[in-house]
Amino acid sequence: MVNEQAQPVLEIWGGNSLKGEVTISGAKNSALVLMAGSLLCPEDCRLRNVPDLVDINKMSQILTALGVKLTKNGHTLDIDARDINPTKAPYDIVSKLRASFFAIGALLARFGNVRIPLPGGCAIGARPVDLHVRGLQAMGAQVIIESGIVHANVTGSDRRLQGANIYLDYPSVGATETLLMAATLAKGETVIENAAQEPEIVDLANFCIAMGAKISGAGTNKIIISGVERLHSVDYRVIPDRIEAGTFLVAGAITQSEISIFPVIPEHLIPVIAKLKAIGCQVIAEDSDRLRLIPGALKATDIETLPYPGFPTDMQAQFMALLSVSEGYSVISETVFENRLRHVAELQRMGADIRLKGHHAMINGVPFLSGAPVMATDLRASAALVLAGLAAQGKTIVRGLHHLDRGYENIESKLVKLGANIKRV
Ligand code: UD1
Repeated sequence: MVNEQAQPVLEIWGGNSLKGEVTISGAKNSALVLMAGSLLCPEDCRLRNVPDLVDINKMSQILTALGVKLTKNGHTLDIDARDINPTKAPYDIVSKLRASFFAIGALLARFGNVRIPLPGGCAIGARPVDLHVRGLQAMGAQVIIESGIVHANVTGSDRRLQGANIYLDYPSVGATETLLMAATLAKGETVIENAAQEPEIVDLANFCIAMGAKISGAGTNKIIISGVERLHSVDYRVIPDRIEAGTFLVAGAITQSEISIFPVIPEHLIPVIAKLKAIGCQVIAEDSDRLRLIPGALKATDIETLPYPGFPTDMQAQFMALLSVSEGYSVISETVFENRLRHVAELQRMGADIRLKGHHAMINGVPFLSGAPVMATDLRASAALVLAGLAAQGKTIVRGLHHLDRGYENIESKLVKLGANIKRV
């Protein structure tokens, strides 16, 4: 339990216009799963462009507990997972970091045996792991869940998983990643149908291919993996974080400021850019990896979160803050997670006119928000409150920064560099 009173808060004086360029860090969700993927490899792995975040530190602690030798040098992580024990994942950290559970696929594929606690993560819904487990069972694993711990093993003399045809009931990002990793070292071919298509899946596939895996179709809804016996050493650069990039684009829109973001992969931001345009802003490609936001008069639009290439649920809260001050009536529908609208109450505290009905939020744009003390309820909600604070009149105090620090590297120094009046106290 976090003692909120003893924790630092962000004080934001709203109304400054921002200017300049923001450097976008490596993608949190890619880096986390690539760290899990490195467990497939009995040789040295080097990951570059790894963001400096609480979640990455937690993942590092889990790898270390498994016996991995980790060396961190700035944003580069050297990982040596030659000599590890697949049963040592510690409950207290896995239960706080959902992505760490995705290591189950890599560990089971390499050792034929794994013991890992059920995961945690943001309080945004039930978030079960049934799709992960069913997929591993289809590949021949025996899975027992007892006292919150998942025990999985493969019988047979070589203890190797068997390739399988797997249809996912839902294109779960984590389940696709777990099964893709598991299939890289399985015997024969695995086909994942209705696979997630997120850029982080493509990054994981490219990372595994760079280690010698045989994978095609990543980025489509059908991924085919031909298992190999062993993977080899790799030196790999994590993609830029599309959610951090999108958050800064919204920072420009909500403060009516012209800002650039770099480096980015514009294609990963297509749904975010489309909605910014619908709201009245322009997003211009200055280079192949640099975008500039040019603000305009903000007007209402409707948004429905969906698996990629639909609008990302991880950008829903930030757009809620933006639509709160966009003229007209907007509807945001959250379809990916059942409990991801808890920031509504906090935005209301700042003067937003929002009504909730089930998983829909009806937003009547107001001319301005007012600074207030607010509480971050999850990672992306915390970003939404910072954005609202940048645009609000007066002072906003954001509590619950442990959420923000999970996923945004140096957010306040990046914002200060742009001209925001924000400090951690
Ligand atoms: C990942 C991202 C998270 C993002 C989400 C959706 C990481 C570390 N996290 O989370 O930031 O918001 O994708 O883009 O990459 N589900 C099941 N059974 C399962 C698995 C998932 O019912 O076995 C449900 C979940 O409860 C949720 C939906 O599927 O309602 C989507 O979850 P999923 O795509 O798996 O998200 P994560 O991989 O957990």
